[in-house]
Amino acid sequence: MTAADQDAPARGAIEAAGRGQLRFLTCGSVDDGKSTLIGRLLVDSRRVFDDQLAALERDSRRFGTTGEDVDYALLLDGLEAEREQGITIDVAWRFFATARRSFVVMDAPGHEQYTRNMATAASTAELAVLLVDARKGLLDQTRRHAAICALFRVRHVVLAVNKIDLAGFSQETFDAIVADFAAFVQPFGFASLTAVPVSARFGDNVVAASPRTPWYGGPALLDLLETIDVESDPAAAPFRLPVQWVARPNAEFRGFAGTVASGRVAVGDAVVVQPSGAGSTVARIVTADGDRDAAAAGDAVTLVLADERDVSRGDLLAAADAPAEVGDQIQAHLLWMGEQPLLPGRACLMRIGTRWVGATVSQIRHRIDVRTLAPLAARRLVLNEIAVCNLSVAAPIAFDSYAADRTTGAFVLVDRETNDTVAAGMIDFGLRRAANLRWERLAVDKAARARLKGQRPCVVWFTGLSGAGKSTIARLVEQRLHAEGLHTYMLDGDNVRHGLNRDLGFTDADRVENIRRVGEVAKLMVDAGLIVLCALISPFRAERQAVRELLGAGEFVEVFVDAPLDLCMARDPKGLYAKARAGRLTNFTGIDSPYERPDAPDLVLDTAAESAEALAEQVVARVRGG
Ligand code: ADX
Repeated sequence: MTAADQDAPARGAIEAAGRGQLRFLTCGSVDDGKSTLIGRLLVDSRRVFDDQLAALERDSRRFGTTGEDVDYALLLDGLEAEREQGITIDVAWRFFATARRSFVVMDAPGHEQYTRNMATAASTAELAVLLVDARKGLLDQTRRHAAICALFRVRHVVLAVNKIDLAGFSQETFDAIVADFAAFVQPFGFASLTAVPVSARFGDNVVAASPRTPWYGGPALLDLLETIDVESDPAAAPFRLPVQWVARPNAEFRGFAGTVASGRVAVGDAVVVQPSGAGSTVARIVTADGDRDAAAAGDAVTLVLADERDVSRGDLLAAADAPAEVGDQIQAHLLWMGEQPLLPGRACLMRIGTRWVGATVSQIRHRIDVRTLAPLAARRLVLNEIAVCNLSVAAPIAFDSYAADRTTGAFVLVDRETNDTVAAGMIDFGLRRAANLRWERLAVDKAARARLKGQRPCVVWFTGLSGAGKSTIARLVEQRLHAEGLHTYMLDGDNVRHGLNRDLGFTDADRVENIRRVGEVAKLMVDAGLIVLCALISPFRAERQAVRELLGAGEFVEVFVDAPLDLCMARDPKGLYAKARAGRLTNFTGIDSPYERPDAPDLVLDTAAESAEALAEQVVARVRGG
């Protein structure tokens, strides 16, 4: 049997999220003996399959660092190879059980570059075992781990002072480390902090109390884990069920399936569909094993409502007397997981519960020092950094604060281009601003304005390198359309940077914002009934796509003005390439700043092969044709 086979039943058990189960995280570095500790917990609690143990003994003799003894660290290192390949998860986890409790132990690498892995584990853990080496005491890493646990609301912390054997089983050493740690985490407000002196290698105080630490009166680590009351009863919170799918096997039955995220629900309970706000009562609770009267956090159920209500995947069913908040502007703690830095203003996808929705980080308020949780001034956010940010969501979402509910208060951000998870978010609160704004209906609409002008409004978006000929061709197109009596306006990259965008430069972040603003202006102009010609380098696919999505179907015509870099450099109409190559102009597109060619432009203009006039004619024909 391979380790992967063994995980199958464990996974099932975890999905069932049985109560009485403890999910804990271990933090520390390999040097601290973390793998050895977990290995020993697994082995000594006799839940490691015999053949795996036999293999372990074999491998220990071959690779181990502990002579004839079993090297427990190998057990866990073996698991790391088959880590979960979920969205972001790169966390080794293991299921084990004793007579008193079942456990999920999650282990993430300790180094700073693995902060995102640790955070992923922390976001679902109820307790963290923080390991320190008795000889070294508190390290920066320990402080960082404690702070991340606090941030992700791991409420209970066990400080395992390991290698106590190498510190001569000294009570003074132990007490000093514990005092240090207690003082450091005091502001974090953990619900409980317990410390245990252990020797993972020899098993002292891991599973059984050690006679070598007679001064320690507390329980062994396993004993502690078995008995600690983490009093986190997700069933006690208000009822929340993110709808996974709408079950409609026949015309008579319509149910809403999902896993209860928090709280309880019973037949007859009043619930509300969010974000729409429609209310109803629960008529039936259907499960794979038949109907039930009630369900609680962790249960997979299908709810049937008493009334016909419009409910779809991504909606939240919530207790009518304690609904979630609804809004489209939020403040959140964001752990940045992207390899590329955060670009405020870039459109990405938010997954919150079962819902996918467009979202942008509109502002970085401040960064957080992960050793102390103190705020730091920041204009950028890179991999593994944490910041408090404002986010703007494309449509209202239902949410709770992360402090109130770790399920409905958490989200991830996904890059639209790469599909990578770039951030994990914890909602602080909704921002009221947007709630007080509404759409003012205008008396004259886009269709009426377009009719008066006798044209179909649209945006023709010219993208390409500097010197490719975007402005030249757009100018010719505008002249011709104007001559034909059409109403146009041209938004040129250079021009808008004299006014509307005079505050923006050429960093990636500024270009994102440049395109976002021009996109919004172009949208207004389309609403005014105009044919809008936009000529901007607009080097990123994500922003061009975002502008496309601002507009209606067929209203965005992406024109790729294609000219090889060599040709643009040879033309160099403004002498900028020469400057950039001489190092006197930085962030220049094509030289030291990227250009992402369109994947599927509506029109490609080959400027190496044809004249600007001929190419302009192609665009005019396209606009005329609609
Ligand atoms: S974009 O990348 O944000 O879309 P935009 O089209 O507005 O760029 O502006 C590009 C124009 O600014 C170029 O045509 C060029 O004249 C000028 N420019 C000055 N510095 C740079 C630079 N570092 N990179 C690109 N263009 C620059």
